[in-house]
Amino acid sequence: MIAIEVHLAADAAATMRRDVRAGLSTDPKELAPKYFYDERGSQLFEQITELPEYYPTRAERSILAERSEEIVAAAGKPQTLVELGSGSAAKTRHLLSAMQDAGCLQTYVPVDISEEITHETAEALVGEYPGLAVRGLVCDFEHDLERIPEGHGGRLIAFLGGTIGNLYPAARRDFLTRLAGLMDPDDRLLLGTDLVKAHNRLEAAYDDASGVTAEFNKNVLAVLNRELGADFDLDAFEHVALYDAEEGRMDIRLRSLEEQTIRLEGLEMDVSFAHGEEMRTEISSKFTYEQLTRVYGEAGLAISGWFTDADCDYALSLARPS
Ligand code: TRP
Repeated sequence: MIAIEVHLAADAAATMRRDVRAGLSTDPKELAPKYFYDERGSQLFEQITELPEYYPTRAERSILAERSEEIVAAAGKPQTLVELGSGSAAKTRHLLSAMQDAGCLQTYVPVDISEEITHETAEALVGEYPGLAVRGLVCDFEHDLERIPEGHGGRLIAFLGGTIGNLYPAARRDFLTRLAGLMDPDDRLLLGTDLVKAHNRLEAAYDDASGVTAEFNKNVLAVLNRELGADFDLDAFEHVALYDAEEGRMDIRLRSLEEQTIRLEGLEMDVSFAHGEEMRTEISSKFTYEQLTRVYGEAGLAISGWFTDADCDYALSLARPS
């Protein structure tokens, strides 16, 4: 059984114009990371996940490959797997298979912004897991969290990929608080987080030797050129990725290599950059067990499981409403 509901914002273009105008009008300038992911950006991100320097994807996959049985048992053998940002559900199959082996699997709820991918994933999964019900939601999950269907028999809500680290602390707290408010006592959150480690490894993960990450970061300028009629010269900016130890996060920016003025025809706006001026394009927070316990506590959640890879680079943690 496949049922997919679509709740996309009526005017994504207007939202983009508003976001970009606001981001280029503040000091320092900042662009929202969601605009990285056009077709080219998604391809480049796929390449990032395969880079020798970028360990998080591999580490998360290895935890799921090796410990899904334990995770499903610790989560109380849930009947439903909800996945926020499901995409092609490549890593999810480890969890679905473990639920099937435990005899509890009934429903998968993929939640994703792409309608096409959600349909393809649903079709593939009902073929692979006989009897599985897929109740997909196509929406912006940060906005539409409240649309997640009710569960009976426990839900495991997976939010993988370390994406929680891309939210600022206030937005992160609001998001987790809303999620906690939706959770029944027998529901569990499964959250992927990158962990604090040697700064050189963190910085290399976001500034690889082959330059793929730099190209990915600059791609957001190509998106603005196409969508907003801007005239950014991608060669007039450089990729900057530094670890901010005080804030415990990677700070990813584009630095203007010269004094320049950019025209954004679609916004009827001119924007000046000073020589050396930096514009933030993403933060990526790194956690310790203690910090994560605190982050959960602030949101009305309590940690109930902790699973790392062999090198302790990355964690999947379980949390329950407290
Ligand atoms: N969400 C990913 C992360 O924080 C995205 C990412 C990987 C990224 N490399 C990047 C974002 C480089 C901007 C620039 O790990």
